[in-house]
Amino acid sequence: MHNLCRSYGTKWRRNITARIIDGKTISAKVRAEVSEGVRTFKGAEGRAPGLVAVLVGNDAASHTYVRNKEKSCIEVGMTTEVCRMPASTTQDELTTVVQAYNSDPRFDGILVQLPLPRHMNAAMVTRFINPLKDVDGLHPENMGLLLAGEARFVPATPLGVQRLLREDGIRVEGARVVICGRSNIVGKPLAALLMQRGEGANATVTVCHTGTRDLAVETRRADILIAATGNPRSITADMVRPGAVVIDVGISRIEDLTTKSGFRLAGDVDYGPVSEIASAITPVPGGVGPMTIAMLLDNVLRAAQLATSR
Ligand code: GUN
Repeated sequence: MHNLCRSYGTKWRRNITARIIDGKTISAKVRAEVSEGVRTFKGAEGRAPGLVAVLVGNDAASHTYVRNKEKSCIEVGMTTEVCRMPASTTQDELTTVVQAYNSDPRFDGILVQLPLPRHMNAAMVTRFINPLKDVDGLHPENMGLLLAGEARFVPATPLGVQRLLREDGIRVEGARVVICGRSNIVGKPLAALLMQRGEGANATVTVCHTGTRDLAVETRRADILIAATGNPRSITADMVRPGAVVIDVGISRIEDLTTKSGFRLAGDVDYGPVSEIASAITPVPGGVGPMTIAMLLDNVLRAAQLATSR
């Protein structure tokens, strides 16, 4: 019997040390597959798949994420460009830039890094991205296709979570999955992905949010608990069923003057105590984070393949 289905007696409730789900190793495997795909694509088309990232403003974490995306594109042999724009950029200026990239044949994928400065409406900006280049999967057309069970581009973080579970041998089919967080970029698409028919899905999914009456009652029912609240360490041990699998999507910067950077990263899960009762858990950093970039690269490769098959 799979360990997700096992019920634990009181005797077993203490000191179960969770297996660590290693996102670094699994993402390296995905990146190696993408590299191979890029090589084949270049051989056939005489050009590399390309990603452009548009970054507006001065958010330090966003600058780091975009640098990592750029570096990862280069490592797998893709063409990449970062368009950095000041925080004072108007929404019209941004959408003009996005439209120019829509018709730039060097780039198969366009992403506008979020969050955008407060004076902009991210949902409106996303609508200007050609849905066939929307490798973030945030255009309403791509969100609709996912919900209809005909996914084209799925946001990278949900794809990364699904792939982590698959590579770690965790059975999703029939499992009770509880997702904490209903964002357009993680919670909603992840629910749509895991509830649909098919391999690595077919789960019974519950989505919790700030309107959930008793969060712990819901989370304690989970075979697979996915934390995407953005609130550091908010998922505590008493909220987790012994033996559950815990996936931590959170990545917050917490001030820590003892480190060189002045901060350290924290997930949404209270890692130490939770890892004593979960059967498997993702660390932060080194869990979902590296998978997000790997799956983004995979989306860019697929966008390039789509563009040549049209
Ligand atoms: N900000 C945090 N994660 C993401 C992501 O996956 N895509 C974009 N565009 N912005 C983000």
